[in-house]
Amino acid sequence: MAKVHVVFYSMYGHVYTMAEAVAAGAREVEGTDVTLYRVADLMSDEALERSGAQAAQAPFIHIPVIEPDQLTEADAIIFGTPTRFGNMCAQMRNFLDQTGRLWATGALVNKIGSVFISTATQHGGQETTITSFHSTLLHHGMIVVGVPYSAPGLLNMKEITGGSPYGAGTLAGGDGSRRPSENELTIARAQGRRVAELARKLTAR
Ligand SMILES: Cc1cc2nc3c(=O)[nH]c(=O)nc-3n(C[C@H](O)[C@H](O)[C@H](O)COP(=O)(O)O)c2cc1C
Repeated sequence: MAKVHVVFYSMYGHVYTMAEAVAAGAREVEGTDVTLYRVADLMSDEALERSGAQAAQAPFIHIPVIEPDQLTEADAIIFGTPTRFGNMCAQMRNFLDQTGRLWATGALVNKIGSVFISTATQHGGQETTITSFHSTLLHHGMIVVGVPYSAPGLLNMKEITGGSPYGAGTLAGGDGSRRPSENELTIARAQGRRVAELARKLTAR
């Protein structure tokens, strides 16, 4: 079995919905064991409640919070983060900043790493969030995987859509009211499937 971890942070549920699609795509590949994890929050319960995030997180609060060492169990890790000023969110950065020992021991070398995201706006950092995230994966010696243009949704010009060859993405809208579209979810499933297929090849004996 190839083990795929989908590790995400989501404040208002957009990244979570994408994470479920990524995981569903990975599960389509026979011989893969796919698990969803959240990274720990950094906001107080009071701040989460005040911002409406507590209610938005209720549908996925049951998903276990991952410890850094659990990354070593996976053959492939697909990370999901909302964009914050064109970069990953602090919760994800905080989690990754606890992987220094894994870096020092080369524990993630030759594992597959891949990233998907959510932004509020079309040009608010869909690509920069992913490519800047890739630096961390490369420092860990991971094999970075995106979404090739063989995923037809990337060429869709009929509607506004997230997603790029760097990874799947959704557009939440300025007020967060937009939900991931079918085109974005299809790209997310393609990303999960591709990572799982490559993980299977990497672990084949
Ligand atoms: C502090 C902060 C900074 C943000 N920066 C950006 C940004 O640079 N570009 C953008 O398009 N959206 C930005 N957003 C919007 C978030 O990306 C959006 O809320 C998120 O994608 C929704 O995903 P979620 O529901 O999974 O949390 C920002 C939101 C916050 C709270």
